[in-house]
Amino acid sequence: MVKSKAPEKEDSFGAAPHERPVPRISIAAFVEFPDTGAALQRAGSDRRLSKAHVEVQLGGIKGAVEHFHGQVTPNLLIVETRLNGQAALEELDRLAEVCDASTKVIVVGRVNDVELYRELMRRGASEYLVAPLNPMHLIEVISGLYLDPDASPVGRVIAFVGARGGAGSSTLAHNVGWCIAEELHINTTIVDLDLPFGTTGLDFNDEPGPGIVDALSSPERLDDMLLDRLLVKRGEHLSIFPTPASLERDYDVPAVAFEAVLDSVRHTTPCVIVDLPHIWTPWIKATLVAADEIVIVSTPDLASLRNTKNIVELIRQARPNDAPPKLVINQVGVAKRPEIPAKDFAETIGLEPALVMAFDPAVFGQAANNGQMLNEVAAKTAPAEGIRRLAELLTGRVPQVTQKVSPLLSFLKGKMKA
Ligand SMILES: Nc1ncnc2c1ncn2[C@@H]1O[C@H](COP(=O)(O)OP(=O)(O)OP(=O)(O)O)[C@@H](O)[C@H]1O
Ligand SMILES: [Mg+2]
Repeated sequence: MVKSKAPEKEDSFGAAPHERPVPRISIAAFVEFPDTGAALQRAGSDRRLSKAHVEVQLGGIKGAVEHFHGQVTPNLLIVETRLNGQAALEELDRLAEVCDASTKVIVVGRVNDVELYRELMRRGASEYLVAPLNPMHLIEVISGLYLDPDASPVGRVIAFVGARGGAGSSTLAHNVGWCIAEELHINTTIVDLDLPFGTTGLDFNDEPGPGIVDALSSPERLDDMLLDRLLVKRGEHLSIFPTPASLERDYDVPAVAFEAVLDSVRHTTPCVIVDLPHIWTPWIKATLVAADEIVIVSTPDLASLRNTKNIVELIRQARPNDAPPKLVINQVGVAKRPEIPAKDFAETIGLEPALVMAFDPAVFGQAANNGQMLNEVAAKTAPAEGIRRLAELLTGRVPQVTQKVSPLLSFLKGKMKA
């Protein structure tokens, strides 16, 4: 068993610096205008700031000075001023008198004034932002203040969830993970979180192992060495965090353990595929909301439609600054089964499917029975093509095609150089 390779510096795949979660810091904001307050609230509810404690109130710099007189100031103060030039600087000087040396300050103003910006920076402000604020830009600025630019990159987490039991979520997660690793050459770890019934062992023809359950029972011990022992290596770029798939243990795992384990895995692998079971618990919800990408696998029936709609709405609300999840309508075209057409399904959800996958029992059945991936047993078929497209869509990558140069052409090129 060898650990999946740590993300290499030149491998640009992974979460962009500003997409990494901001650490557990306290942020207090004192705004002058409602639009600044609204932008801050929206940034504060973002998944990237979920660990930080954000409080927003009216009052501007003056309000902050009154509030923090004789009090400890938070890690980050965001203050808005209505004033310009010298008057704004004087207001900020008064804030400096009550501000702890370790507190960082972001000033928000209404004028794009380079002189003011320079003076504020000289006085120790960390940033000057011109309102109206863009929540994502604000998150980027805050990340920039608290994340070490030299820290090693973290991986992107792609979570797969089924809209109903047996929709094909695990099969697609495993196949897409395999494709990202084998065909796009991105180091990938598949994390099977269906602890009692997970199918990674069966799908990859591997022994089930204690892997993920050992990690979840003591996430604080999960260093590189332990990960090395628990992950099953499957090819040059693919590792699997297997489940015991046994009913002998009680899987009473606190939600924070899932978060801690996924955090450790994304520090060692650029792409983390999370295979979630079809249940609804606080940890499932938290894992979905925190993921960089979400894939919902549905089937074209009424129960799936209702569940997909509910999941999409919840995700849209919890992640107002993110793109919507990717929708896969799977197992389309089962003989004699009445179905909701993909077009109607998409219209009801308000989301175009990223992939519509036909019901193909021959190809899926053969892959499942062999413990192989679709692209291994039937590379040229529509299901394998669909998996490839989804992998490319999720990573923004296409496979490198090695150009074959004919011997005659290389001979002629050689001649022309000579
Ligand atoms: N498009 C398809 N055509 C035919 N069979 C399929 C298709 N997609 C998935 N299957 C088969 O459906 C079965 C269930 O798939 P899978 O275990 O991936 O679903 P799931 O959504 O993960 O289920 P669970 O609710 O148990 O987590 C598997 O046998 C799989 O091979
Ligand atoms: Mg599953």
